[in-house]
Amino acid sequence: MSKNKHAELLVIGAGPGGYAAAFRAADLGKKVVLVDRDKVMGGVCLNRGCIPSKALLHITKVMDEADSLSKMGVTYGKPKIDIDAIRTHKDKIVSQLNNGIASMAKARKVEFVQGSAAFESESSVEVKTGNEAQSISFDQCIIAAGSSSAMLPGVPKDNKNILTSKTALDLENIPKTMLIIGGGVIGVELGQVYATLGSKVSLVEFLPNIIPGADQDIVKPLERKLKKQFDSIMLGSKVVEISEKKNGLLSVKIEKGSNTDVFDYEKILVAVGRKPNTSYLNLKATSIAVNKQGFIDVDNYQRTSVSNIFAIGDISDNPMLAHKATHQGKVAAEVACGEPSIFDPKAIPSVVYTDPEVAWCGLTETQAKEDNTPYSKAEFPWAASGRAIAVGANQGKTKILFDDESKTVLGVGIVGPSAGDIISEGMLAIEMGSDAEDISLTVHPHPTLGETFALTAEVFDGTITDLYIPKK
Ligand code: NAI
Repeated sequence: MSKNKHAELLVIGAGPGGYAAAFRAADLGKKVVLVDRDKVMGGVCLNRGCIPSKALLHITKVMDEADSLSKMGVTYGKPKIDIDAIRTHKDKIVSQLNNGIASMAKARKVEFVQGSAAFESESSVEVKTGNEAQSISFDQCIIAAGSSSAMLPGVPKDNKNILTSKTALDLENIPKTMLIIGGGVIGVELGQVYATLGSKVSLVEFLPNIIPGADQDIVKPLERKLKKQFDSIMLGSKVVEISEKKNGLLSVKIEKGSNTDVFDYEKILVAVGRKPNTSYLNLKATSIAVNKQGFIDVDNYQRTSVSNIFAIGDISDNPMLAHKATHQGKVAAEVACGEPSIFDPKAIPSVVYTDPEVAWCGLTETQAKEDNTPYSKAEFPWAASGRAIAVGANQGKTKILFDDESKTVLGVGIVGPSAGDIISEGMLAIEMGSDAEDISLTVHPHPTLGETFALTAEVFDGTITDLYIPKK
């Protein structure tokens, strides 16, 4: 083993958290080495997650919109699907972004090492690349090693018809039938992709609702659409057994209360959550503390229990979201470089990139009720928005929760096209401490879906042109 490399700052993991940390530290003058198991930078988000799934969701959204044009007087024929060309298109987007990150790393003189890093001590890691191994010593380290798909116990191992989000995005083929286990973000996003491409999709969710983290009023329009697109949605149900049949199909026993049904599927996508990648890092060579959920314990500066080692992103806490990791990565890099910085956001936005999109941030009504937090609510139904009607988005809704006394924004929930873009205005309102008047008096362009945010604040103020609110 050669012992030839030293990094002032070593970053383990080149996902959106890791490369943001590496680039920020390099900009602040550190000699940075960035290690990743993958040959390319970008992590799960770019290579096997956010970006390829959005490339596919764009295609299926346009297919669906083209179909809905028949109600507006324009009819297309049945789409011809070339799965190889779709895959190539998706891969091209990913590699374009891989190249962009690689060139930014080069410009900043961040050294990229491909290999799997495991701690030897609190100041060095061993990096294995194929049969080769090297030791890299460091002054400081940021762990940004991410998460992997969780598997259900009892699921047959090494069956190529049982997919994770990674293999589902490989888009090997369009199966005739597919069962999605888990009605969270991955389940509904990829379920909608496969259903639009032609698979008969069924979804099984353990809890009584899909997207359980969001308020169900903003999930309902999506659920109504999925009910039309999917063969079935089995809520409050659990998979108790999966077996492989001689004909290659997967036989799945699903239990709901005292009822048990057995169905056959060509493929199964397991989307029941993700787990932090702590087990690959040989953390026992350090005194880094890991909590009961398997996350590395950090403080608000992203520092672990070992003062020269930081952890950020999926490996340090929920929610497992790229934008949270990026912000934490920059904080860790700045603190490592002696800059005053802290991870202290008032909220972190969540977006489900389906059609319609569902987005929320800050306090949800469900949470408020659980915690007895007082709030006032204003809602603007998109059925009263000219733009929403023109684009066939009448089912949408914008909802803002306000603090009773200060009238500032506590939380926002939006469902409809571009909800994931409009939610940024909610985030800004929360971070800036804007009150209802700040929002309603801000001139929004008409006709846009974004103006529903200001119209919701008008509803709260009690006077709005586009709706009649009877006097109390
Ligand atoms: P998730 O936590 O969002 O959803 C998992 C779902 O599976 C939950 O609704 C849970 O109740 C259900 N479940 C668990 N065990 C089950 C069982 N045995 N049978 C049936 N249902 C079961 O996890 P998901 O969708 O796998 O996503 C993982 C992570 O990736 C999440 O943390 C998410 O934030 C992130 N992600 C975010 C995206 C976005 O922001 N748009 C897109 C994709 C992933």
